[in-house]
Amino acid sequence: MKQEIHTFLPAGHPWKDRILWFDTIGSTNTQAKALALQGAPHGTVILAGHQSGGRGRLGRSFHSPADAGIYMSVLLRPECHPAELIHLTCAAAVAACDAVEGAAGIRPGIKWTNDLVYGKRKLAGILTELGLDKQGKISYAIIGIGINCSQQIPDFPRDIRDFAGSLASVTGRNIPRARVAAALIERLEQMDRELLRGKDAMLDRYRRDCVTLGQRIRLLRGEEVRYGTALDIDDQGALVVSFDGGTTEAVSSGEVSIRGMYGYM
Ligand code: BTN
Repeated sequence: MKQEIHTFLPAGHPWKDRILWFDTIGSTNTQAKALALQGAPHGTVILAGHQSGGRGRLGRSFHSPADAGIYMSVLLRPECHPAELIHLTCAAAVAACDAVEGAAGIRPGIKWTNDLVYGKRKLAGILTELGLDKQGKISYAIIGIGINCSQQIPDFPRDIRDFAGSLASVTGRNIPRARVAAALIERLEQMDRELLRGKDAMLDRYRRDCVTLGQRIRLLRGEEVRYGTALDIDDQGALVVSFDGGTTEAVSSGEVSIRGMYGYM
C-alpha cells in the first residue's frame, strides 16, 4: 500500500519519506502521539489497514474494518500557541473535502465540526489532538482522519447502518484507497503551509461546505439539551446558534445534531 501511495504522490513531496504503514494497529492517533513523544518529525504520516481501537470525538469509537477505509494520522509541529490553532479541525475538514473531491469526484459537506457527509450519510470523521510543552506552546498536533471507502451499506454495524456511507456506496464506484490517501496527504500538506496565515480564507471555504448552517439543531452538553438554529461559523471556527428562547451564542464544544440527520427527527 505504501508503494502504491507513493505512485500517486508527486516526486519530491516533502512528506513522502515520512509515511509509516501498519497492517493493523490500535489507533493511528495513539501511535502518532507515541511517536511524537519519541521525537518524530513534522509531517510524519501514520496509516493503517485496520484499527482495532479507532477513536472518535467525545470518547466514541470509529469503526475501522480491515482494508475498507483510510485510517490516517498526521503529526505536525507548528511553532505557536494552542489559541492560534483553534481552527485546526475546520482546516482539516476543508482539506479532507478537497481530497475526496480530487480522488472521488464528489464534494462532501461538513457537518460542524468534524464530520464529512454526503446526503444524510457520514463518510468520514476527524479527530485532532494537541500536546503542549512546558511553556504551554504546541509540542505536537495530530490530525486523525478516517474515511469510509469501500463498504456497502449492509457492511456497516447495525447501530450506524442508517447514517453511515462510504465513497463506494455514494458514488457507485470503487475508488483506489491509495489514491484517496495520497490526495489527503497532498491536501493536508497544503493546509499546513497556510495554517497560520490563511485562516480567514479557509473559514470562508468551511462556511461554504458546512451543511449545518441554516438548519435546526440540537446541542447536547452533559445533561443539558438545547435547541436552536445554526446561523454562522465565527472567526474561531465556533458555531453561532440562535437558541430558542432568544439568546445567540457561539458554541465551541458539545455534540450538535442536525434535525433530519443521524436519527434526530
Ligand atoms: C469522529 O468521527 O468523531 C472522528 C473519527 C476519527 C477517526 C480517525 S481514523 C484515524 C485516526 N485514528 C483514530 O483512532 N481516530 C482517527
